[in-house]
Amino acid sequence: MKIIVTDTPGQAFQPAADMIAEEIRGFGAPVLGLATGRTMESIYQLLVQQHDAGTLDFSGTTSFNLDEYVGLPPTDPNSYSHYMQEHLFSHVNMPAGQGHVPNGVAVDLEAECARYEAAIRAAGGLGLQLLGIGETGHIGFNEPPSAFDSRTRVVHLDDVTRRQNSGMFGDDPERVPERALTMGVGTILEARRLLLVAVGEGKAAIVDEALNGPINEAVSATAIRLHDDVTVILDEAAARIW
Ligand code: GLP
Repeated sequence: MKIIVTDTPGQAFQPAADMIAEEIRGFGAPVLGLATGRTMESIYQLLVQQHDAGTLDFSGTTSFNLDEYVGLPPTDPNSYSHYMQEHLFSHVNMPAGQGHVPNGVAVDLEAECARYEAAIRAAGGLGLQLLGIGETGHIGFNEPPSAFDSRTRVVHLDDVTRRQNSGMFGDDPERVPERALTMGVGTILEARRLLLVAVGEGKAAIVDEALNGPINEAVSATAIRLHDDVTVILDEAAARIW
């Protein structure tokens, strides 16, 4: 595992964006695993800048997002589908239809999960998978406990997560959907490379547990230590405990 610790959060985003850009440039048909959350916004901004400068071409890129809230259509500003349009897809030359996000309003959610897994396989599997980390130790929305061989599925969100993500919902955890679709830990571990990015003091305790605690299904992020190509980028505040 490669761990990069930067002085400021701002400095953490650049190497993350550079790794994603390298992945896009290095493969004829790159398949990215993408993530949402505040941490990722700055990373996408840097990628858009490279695109605007004419140094990054997304035309051959396919992407699969980790997760989506159940019940929120892409038109809902709090949906992850909307987030991806707002922060990346609408700004770069990635053809419509190549940026995949699970459909949280599918009539048959189980079938949607199976379809999503099949679409990842049909694209040739995930190359670089970008990950954030939630306070419960979730990657994607793999709330504790999540089996390390779990696949894309419907999950119930932890109260801690609903509180953590309530900022987008008028600070009211009750308005945060109770369920989500998420790639499983097993799905994530099959990516060729993993890149986890966490910044800020609020992440320090869970980052410490993820990287130094016992590897176990009660903290999904500990699973990344089972992968042989992982980069973790932290700012000093998130790396504080160790
Ligand atoms: C959500 C996403 C996670 C992400 C987490 C962290 O819960 N489902 O994939 O890692 O947010 O978000 P933030 O970067 O806002 O702390």
